[in-house]
Amino acid sequence: MISKKILFLVFILIFLLLSNVSLSFPKNFSPHINSLNKRNDIKVYNLTITKKNLAPDGFTREMFVINNQFPGPLIEVNKGDTLVLNVNNDFDDVTTIHSHGIFQRGTPWYDGFPGQTQCDIQSKKSFTYEFQVNQSGTYWYHSHSKAQYIEGIVGPLIAHDPDDPYLKNKDYDEEIVVLIQDWYHTDSKILIATFLSPVSAGNEPTPDNGLINGKNSYNCSGAPAGSDCVSDAPLAKFTFVQGKKYRMRIINTSAFAEFIFSIDEHPMDVIEVEGMITQRHTIHRLPINIAQRYSVIVTADKPIGKYWMRSEMETACFANQSDTLNPLVKAVVEYEGSDGSDNPNSTAWTDSQATCIDLDISNLKPYEVQTIPDADYKLTLNVSFQPDDKNVTRGYINNSTYVLDSKSPTLLKVYKNITTFNPNQNAYIIDKDKVVDIILFNNDTGDHPFHLHGHVFWVLGIGINGTSPDYNSVNSKDPIQRDTVTVPAGGWFIVRFVSNNPGVWAFHCHMEWHVQSGLVIQFVTQPDKIKELKSPENWYNLCKY
Ligand code: C2O
Repeated sequence: MISKKILFLVFILIFLLLSNVSLSFPKNFSPHINSLNKRNDIKVYNLTITKKNLAPDGFTREMFVINNQFPGPLIEVNKGDTLVLNVNNDFDDVTTIHSHGIFQRGTPWYDGFPGQTQCDIQSKKSFTYEFQVNQSGTYWYHSHSKAQYIEGIVGPLIAHDPDDPYLKNKDYDEEIVVLIQDWYHTDSKILIATFLSPVSAGNEPTPDNGLINGKNSYNCSGAPAGSDCVSDAPLAKFTFVQGKKYRMRIINTSAFAEFIFSIDEHPMDVIEVEGMITQRHTIHRLPINIAQRYSVIVTADKPIGKYWMRSEMETACFANQSDTLNPLVKAVVEYEGSDGSDNPNSTAWTDSQATCIDLDISNLKPYEVQTIPDADYKLTLNVSFQPDDKNVTRGYINNSTYVLDSKSPTLLKVYKNITTFNPNQNAYIIDKDKVVDIILFNNDTGDHPFHLHGHVFWVLGIGINGTSPDYNSVNSKDPIQRDTVTVPAGGWFIVRFVSNNPGVWAFHCHMEWHVQSGLVIQFVTQPDKIKELKSPENWYNLCKY
């Protein structure tokens, strides 16, 4: 007999499908295993962006919400689906949406980088992004305009793969999405104005707090007098059923902070790095930099009770320290059947973990053997921070700081047959299918998480301060692929990618303050092939206003 409960769930599911509403997040964020079974489907999401006064951590400030929620709705597709994002800009400024990690093969105009791939979506206007997702894994979407994502225009994007080996092998029963991020109490327009003025001397704004799935508490004694602030706001809560195995998809959506993530007394097996399925690798504490993602399998095999989830902000990487910031962000993992409202008294892992550096790539191995092509072309990039002629410290790549020109996107210029770009556009043209190595040197005292749009790259090697790259010692045999990698302070990395995706692709430090200060370049890939792709009407229309 079909129980009432199942009928009710089916009813809810039909309602959600018909109304095109995603499961609300974080309220019902408890994920579901590969819930979308149809292949080559079209998944439509409406994203209406507005401003609202909210208090994710008890401190009320004006921020953004998508469909009235923060973080934004969970977007799910199956590999092969077409994703349609109807974006309604219902606030008083321009915006864009970038689907972070999605290749946009054949649809480079929907990559969402203002000034590179599109004109702005004007206030009170709508724009539809429509593209195929031929990938699987853990991604996210965010505004690429004006530091808006760090104020709420952000959400998870999960691409399921019915053929995922860990899924097929029943290595996990359910999925859980965990967004971790830093959080500021001051409007980012003010923070940017200060940062991009001589007074900052290039020192980035320090976060006020951190959040897990949009929640944390804050000790209001640290808040300025007169603020609307309530201490002890509720923490995020995750429910485990004893005996079940969970695939946790962890996404760092910060402006500036890297974290070390862990769950007390529960080891984690890494199985995915940014879309690449890896061999199992057991760890206790996971370092994760901005824009990086990992899937880990966690087994709920401990006594019924409550355990802390910890997201420790690595303040050692900050230029400025704060005495009101509590760097330990917590959430509660509660086994079904545990009683009482007491806090967990679980024991934290104590394994030492180097800070301001990625999880050691030498321990991460692809699940499937790949053949790594040789490089045809090596591009050396030097990162530095220098004062400009107004004495504002800006980010430079090969001695050039990027200036955003949102009215005249590079991709549009390509269609107009323009092939020379202002030097401040930091445009690198790659004409043919090529295998490109980026050898990046960091002359700065901070680390930087670099993200490449439109591709993944093999991480051949990462070196700390005092070492230098050496092709004889890097891994070109079985490296992992990802789309965001950290260059240590004073260090270097070598990454390799196949440049066969016609379009305009940003490569930038994902610390939002550094995007604002020009630590950005763009690859103009195969301009001739770009022109063979038919760019859509709605995209041209964005530039006519
Ligand atoms: Cu998360 Cu330029 O991207």
